[in-house]
Amino acid sequence: MKPFAVAAALASWLTAAGASGFEPPQVFKNANLVHVVSLEKNYVKEAINVQVENIDKSPQDEYFVPIPSEQIPRIGGFEVKDRKNQDSGPLAVNLVEADPESDVQYYRIQLPSPLEPGAQQTLGISYNILKAYTPLPAAIKQDEKQYLSYEFNAYAPSVYPTTKQKTDVKTGGSIQEYTQIDEGNPSKSSNKLTYGPFHDTLAGATKPSQVRFEFTKPVLHVSSLQRDVEVSHWGGNVAFEERYDLTHLGANLSDQFNRVKWAQSAYYNPATAALKELKFPLQEGSIDPYYTDVIGNVSTSRFRSGKREAILEAKPRYPVFGGWRYPFTIGWNSDAKNFLRKATGDGYVLNIPFLEGPKQAEGIEYESIQVRVLLPEGATNVKFYTTIPTTSILSHSIDLSNTFLDTLGRTVLAINATNLVDDMRDRELIVTYDSSLIDSLRKPLLVFTSMFTIFVVAYIVGGVEVKISSKK
Ligand SMILES: *[C@@H]1O[C@H](CO)[C@@H](O)[C@H](O)[C@H]1NC(C)=O
Ligand SMILES: *[C@@H]1O[C@H](CO)[C@@H](O)[C@H](O)[C@H]1NC(C)=O
Ligand SMILES: *[C@@H]1O[C@H](CO)[C@@H](O)[C@H](O)[C@H]1NC(C)=O
Repeated sequence: MKPFAVAAALASWLTAAGASGFEPPQVFKNANLVHVVSLEKNYVKEAINVQVENIDKSPQDEYFVPIPSEQIPRIGGFEVKDRKNQDSGPLAVNLVEADPESDVQYYRIQLPSPLEPGAQQTLGISYNILKAYTPLPAAIKQDEKQYLSYEFNAYAPSVYPTTKQKTDVKTGGSIQEYTQIDEGNPSKSSNKLTYGPFHDTLAGATKPSQVRFEFTKPVLHVSSLQRDVEVSHWGGNVAFEERYDLTHLGANLSDQFNRVKWAQSAYYNPATAALKELKFPLQEGSIDPYYTDVIGNVSTSRFRSGKREAILEAKPRYPVFGGWRYPFTIGWNSDAKNFLRKATGDGYVLNIPFLEGPKQAEGIEYESIQVRVLLPEGATNVKFYTTIPTTSILSHSIDLSNTFLDTLGRTVLAINATNLVDDMRDRELIVTYDSSLIDSLRKPLLVFTSMFTIFVVAYIVGGVEVKISSKK
C-alpha cells in the first residue's frame, strides 16, 4: 500500500470513529479474510469469512462490524454463523445504538463463548444491500441493453487490522469497466474480479472501487409487501393474500414505449430488461389462485398444480420497464392440514413460510414487509418464532380485529420486517395459540341462531311467506 493511501484511509477511519462516540475495543485481529461481493441479483449479497484472533490479554466475546451509516437503512438479513460449528444456529447480532450524526455504525456479534487470548475462531458474516445499483446510462431505448454500476470497498469493512484478505466481485453479466488498483490487481475472469490478496490492512481502511456490468434482467424492487394469512378452523382452510407494490429500478425508457415494435420483437424473444412474467412457486396443495391489478382480474396467468408443486405464472398486463411501477395482488387457498397441527389441550401450531413471493433468476428485494396472521376468533396465548434474521424484524403486535359476524373478534398477529430478499423464501414462521372448540363453533352457531330467529319471527307474524321466493 502506498503511504498516501495509508494516510488517507487512516484519516477517514479516524474521523468516522471519532464522530460516532463509540469505538469498538481493539481486541481482535483478522488473521485471514475472504470477502465475496455478489452482484448477480437485484440486490447485493455480501459474504465475509473471517478467521478472528483475540490479541488481548483477557477473553473476549464481542466482535464488531462497521457499516457506513448511509447504507444502514438498506441493509438486510445480517447473519453470522460459526464456521466451525455449522449446526449451531446463527449467532446473536444487534445494531449498536449510535450517534445518528456519525458516518459509521456497528453491528455487534456475540460469540457463543468467550475467545481465550491468542485463540482463533472462524465467522461467516453475510448480509444484503438493497437499492444498490445505479443504471448507467440512466435511460435507454426499449431494445437497448441495460448496464448497472456499483460502488464498493475493495477491502472488507473491519474495525480490526487484517493480516491477509481478498475480495471477489461476481457480476450478473459481462464486466464493462472496473477500478484497477495495481498492475494485475484485480485479476479478471469472465464475470468475476478478484482484488488482492492484500497484506496488513489497517483497521477501518477503505479502497473505494467501482464496477459496471451488463444486466439484461429487470431490477425488481418491492417497496411494500402486505401478506395476509387467514386461518379458519371451521372451514379447514388457510387463505393467503399478498399485495405487492413493485417498481423496476433499472434504466428508464428514454423514448415513449412503442407497442408495435414490442409486439414485433416478441417473435424473436430478444433478451430484455423489461419484466414480462413473475413465477410464484406456491406450497403444494394450493388452490383457487387469483391475480389482480389496479384494473381488475389479469387473465394472462397460468396455474399449474401438481402433486409436488403448484406454480402461478403471472404476466403483468404490460411489460414493466425501468422506472415503471406495477402494483398487484395475488391470493390462493390451501387445506389447513398442510400448515396446521393440533398440539396438546386446546393448543395449535401453525407453520407457514414467512415470505413466499416470486422466484426469479434475477432475484427480488423487499423493502417493507408486513405479515398478518388472522387466527380464529378467541385464539389466546399467541406466540411466534421465525427463522428470518432478527436484525430484519422491526416490530410485532397481537391485537383483536372484528370481521363480519365475529362475536369475539379475530386475534391478529402482525409482524413488520424490512430489507428481505427472495433468498429467504424458505424461512419459517411458526405460530402457536390456544383455541377451544366452543370458540371455533361460535361463528356457525351465530349464523344458525340468527336465521332461526328470523324464521320464528316470520312464523309468529304469520301470513308472511316463509318459503324463499324465486321472484326476479
Ligand atoms: C375475477 O376472477 C374471479 C375468479 O376467476 C371472479 O370470481 C371475479 O368475479 C372476477 N372479478 C372481476 C372484477 O372480473
Ligand atoms: C426513472 O424515472 C423515475 C420516475 O419515473 C425517476 O424517479 C427516476 O429517478 C428515474 N431514474 C433514473 C436513473 O433517472
Ligand atoms: C407495521 O407497519 C405499518 C405501516 O407502516 C403500521 O401501520 C403498523 O402499525 C406496523 N405494525 C407494527 C406491529 O408495528
